[in-house]
Amino acid sequence: MPKVISLVGARPQFVKEAMIYKEVRRLSAWDYVLVHSGQHYDAYMSGAFFDQLSIKNPDHSMDIGSGSHGAMTARALERFEAVLLKERPDMVLVYGDTNTTVAGALAASKLKIPVAHVEAGIRQNPKDMPEEINRVVTDHLSRHLFTCSRTAADNLAKEGITQGVHNVGDVMYDLFLMMRSSFDGAITEKLGLKPNRFVLVTLHRDFNVDDERKLGEILKGLSELRKTLDLEIVFPAHPRTSKRIEEFGLSGLTDGIKIVPPVGYFQLMGLAENCALAVTDSGGFQKEAVFAGKRALVIMPDTGWRELTDCGWNLLAEPNSEDIVKKGLSIAQTDGTTPPTPYGDGHAAEKTVLALRSILKGATQ
Ligand code: UD1
Repeated sequence: MPKVISLVGARPQFVKEAMIYKEVRRLSAWDYVLVHSGQHYDAYMSGAFFDQLSIKNPDHSMDIGSGSHGAMTARALERFEAVLLKERPDMVLVYGDTNTTVAGALAASKLKIPVAHVEAGIRQNPKDMPEEINRVVTDHLSRHLFTCSRTAADNLAKEGITQGVHNVGDVMYDLFLMMRSSFDGAITEKLGLKPNRFVLVTLHRDFNVDDERKLGEILKGLSELRKTLDLEIVFPAHPRTSKRIEEFGLSGLTDGIKIVPPVGYFQLMGLAENCALAVTDSGGFQKEAVFAGKRALVIMPDTGWRELTDCGWNLLAEPNSEDIVKKGLSIAQTDGTTPPTPYGDGHAAEKTVLALRSILKGATQ
């Protein structure tokens, strides 16, 4: 049986891996080896996802931890190369756009091991943001590219990548549909919130939270939005964001904002289903809010998920309090239309695994 290594390391990758792993097992598709880079390591950033989503224990843990982009990527590159030399897989599967992703694609392609990229073709400005650099490099190193939407496949075509592109849909949409009945709606009440009476916030991008002025403006905007809309604000904060709030001495601006530690997948989705609207700079969560039928105010200069903003469902906002209040108000006051559903039919993982199984069969015959 062919051997495939799945490389994960950060929260959004665990979510994608859960769905692929399920299909690999169901279809007995290949000998599956799981490698965890260790980019996310806190129990609530990593272990909780493995438990909740029944992902198998990693066969290799590389413990790269945090650090500068160069240091993290270099540690992952060196340690993953050693794993590849030991395991000698027929293919490496990488997900999304993190430092783990790009290191995995680079290590494998240098050893002439074919790379498959799940969530290929996402593009956004600014071109120098770390995730964008990771996406472009990974896509150009990958032999098999699995896209979530037509837009992503078109983005690849614009860069001359047309071979090996499979437009299968979004594995995160698959997971959402499959797990929906198990979402933890009870967390809403546990946090003292009432359904449809709160804004759900997630923020972790370096360009928002590592800049004292911008982070201060965003917190100010959220407080004002709370007063204007007469809604509560709940904010499961990424450790990077909590650290910055403290370092910059911005705690005084969080009055009325319920900051809680990061929550697991079932809890975040439970909150998403019950919130009035979402405010986020997460790539994954701006989609998941829409899967839950909610609108998201996306605090980014641009988004890789343009299908959701071009139709006016989600709105981009600048990291300043005035724009956040203006756009938040506009989102809260618009209703009636049905959310867009551009990300496939809930079978993206199955299509991905079937395509790769047949590619691997052809290669090993
Ligand atoms: C990374 C990804 C981003 C993804 C996000 C999901 C890159 C360049 N970015 O961003 O694409 O959307 O994961 O969360 O790879 N930290 C902890 N505990 C942890 C992990 C991190 O305290 O378990 C803190 C550390 O201070 C660390 C900081 O968070 O330096 C940032 O972590 P890092 O993995 O570098 O980037 P993310 O912002 O999580």
